Amino acid sequence: MISLQDETTGADSTQQLLHERNYVFLLIANRLDVASDEDLDLINDAYDYAKANGYPFFCVTSSPEKYIAQWRDRTGAEYPFLLADEVVLKTIIRSNPGLVLLHNGTVINKWNHANIPDLSEQKKSLDKLPIGVMHEDNQLKTIAQCVGWFFIPLIVLLWLDILVVKRKFRKREKFNINPLIYNKMRKNIVAGNWKMNKTLQEGIDLVKDLNAVLADAKPNCDVVICTPFIHLASVTPIVDKKIGVGAENCADKEKGAFTGEVSAAMVASTGAKYVILGHSERRAYYHETSEMLKTKVELALANGLTPIFCVGEKLDEREAGKQDEVVGSQLKDALFDLSVEDFSKLIIAYEPVWAIGTGKTATGEQAEDVHAFIRKTIADKYGKEVANNTSILYGGSCKPSNAKELFAKPDIDGGLIGGAALKAEDFKGIIDAFN
Ligand code: PGA
Repeated sequence: MISLQDETTGADSTQQLLHERNYVFLLIANRLDVASDEDLDLINDAYDYAKANGYPFFCVTSSPEKYIAQWRDRTGAEYPFLLADEVVLKTIIRSNPGLVLLHNGTVINKWNHANIPDLSEQKKSLDKLPIGVMHEDNQLKTIAQCVGWFFIPLIVLLWLDILVVKRKFRKREKFNINPLIYNKMRKNIVAGNWKMNKTLQEGIDLVKDLNAVLADAKPNCDVVICTPFIHLASVTPIVDKKIGVGAENCADKEKGAFTGEVSAAMVASTGAKYVILGHSERRAYYHETSEMLKTKVELALANGLTPIFCVGEKLDEREAGKQDEVVGSQLKDALFDLSVEDFSKLIIAYEPVWAIGTGKTATGEQAEDVHAFIRKTIADKYGKEVANNTSILYGGSCKPSNAKELFAKPDIDGGLIGGAALKAEDFKGIIDAFN
């Protein structure tokens, strides 16, 4: 309930105003000391209009006399002032000031200070004045304010963001660095596959050379060497701790009367942590089938080894455009009965058979196409997260001169290196492709 007191006499004017049969203008300014005087002309025009038509016009405030006097000085206000409670005034209109129009004691219209109607040439009936509709000027002002305070800074920020991101990518392109190596979850890996090379002494010398070239290096990838069985037990105790060790194969039997075979448990007992399985040379020369490989993978995992599982098409299959089909079957037949948990422990290596040891490397695009296909195949079976976390290495005539281009591809996470793993400097050159 509002109570309006005459500012000079202290008399209660509430009833008088509520019973007024005509229009009454109330300029409501709960605090005159902080009231906006931006739209004074319109307020004064409204007052002149009210006076000319014989309508009462009051300013209602909760401010003390001192501020009323200041407002009068500041605005030249001639209208009388009424006092009311600040909270009550705020419930009528929050704008400070705001204009309220009463008719027969009822509020029929109100405007905040930015919307006060221009009554200088008012011809229409007062109760036809639009409520709350903004002046065109004010609308433009509001739009301009939105643009100024919100959209322009937003556009500037977006532009800066694009600039920074572009620069980062340009830098990475310049150094031929895979843009994903910074934020991808999966590991980058460079793994050597010594194949049937090096006597034990030569192998030990190679390890010493590797230790030396990597002594001060901080590889941006995991480094692994896969050696013949005969080297494993001698290599694991002397190799730099930056380098992991693996075998090139293991048996598809747990143990027993299998002359010449080496079991996954035996490999693990040397301290080795990895094992290459399904290499195309084993598939081609030793007739390893997907069925056998499936068992080898299971045995490797059961013995805590990380399989580096190789897939890849032969030349005639590539020429027939069957690379995806071949690689897809190799993956599915040997691996897709694994649980998600076990599959997540694998490293995959794509090695097109026609590129192995031939000096003929797949182009970055050719390799990336198959890598992306492999990742999608994994995603379809095990979900995107598993696929994104699986490292997929490229193998086939990878050397320091082409490693950067290959590793820059988004789905290539490193290499399985044959020939170039037999010289410490070359191997280091490939590792450096990640720096
Ligand atoms: P390559 O061999 O690098 O000599 O072509 C790769 C591999 O067979 O793992």
